[in-house]
Amino acid sequence: MNIRRPLIAGNWKMFKTCSEAVETAKHLVTRVDDVTDVDVMIAPAFIALAQVADIVKGSKVSLGAQNLFWEKEGAFTGEISPHMIVSTGCKYVIIGHSERRQFFEETDESVNKKINAAVKNGIEPILCVGESEKERESNETFSVLDKQITKGLQGLFTDNLKHLTIAYEPVWAIGTGKTATDEQAQEVHLFLRSLIEKKLGNKFAESIKILYGGSVKPDNITSLMSMPDIDGALVGGASLDAETFSKIVHFL
Ligand code: 13P
Repeated sequence: MNIRRPLIAGNWKMFKTCSEAVETAKHLVTRVDDVTDVDVMIAPAFIALAQVADIVKGSKVSLGAQNLFWEKEGAFTGEISPHMIVSTGCKYVIIGHSERRQFFEETDESVNKKINAAVKNGIEPILCVGESEKERESNETFSVLDKQITKGLQGLFTDNLKHLTIAYEPVWAIGTGKTATDEQAQEVHLFLRSLIEKKLGNKFAESIKILYGGSVKPDNITSLMSMPDIDGALVGGASLDAETFSKIVHFL
């Protein structure tokens, strides 16, 4: 356990209709009402944001979006602007998830524009980084992460990055049931914190939250959270069920 307030975030990906999202959010709100020392966030699909916002209002659960487009408005069919996301009551936005990098041509350059747009609009970005299995096997983990962080945060400074969170999600651990060991995750989190220190200074590096993501479940969260540089989790599959996610939130 460390000095940073933990954040347990649920990424619902492309799951749940509006009514299913509302139902799950209702169950979650009552289950985490007793939580005092942990921040909780869920990121439903765009279509459900407004309805889920009504459910979580005034509760311990904050709302996040799973993506954004950086332009304010215009002829960009199918995209959602930061301004629209703010209007639904979102506090956070997930940016650069590996599924977006893998399937939707997200690049470090577009990630950088999105982070910029989020901070300008007062939305707290959660920047996702992580190496593939092949990259890990060929000892490229640190160089891949260095590039993702350096390019993703290019031109951004501590003044406008006050609320940046980083999520380390090794691609090989997402949805596979293969969690990084506590030591593997800690090693990378420490590397990321040192990298942030080099770029943005010691004070910023000490306060930034670095979440772990990849097959987080109720039975592995406690030991992951005992690592000094793991400040929370970005949870996929296990966040879809309110009871299971609530067990992760109550990791202490
Ligand atoms: P799983 O928890 O399903 O492995 O997904 C992790 C993830 O991608 C969260 O963003």
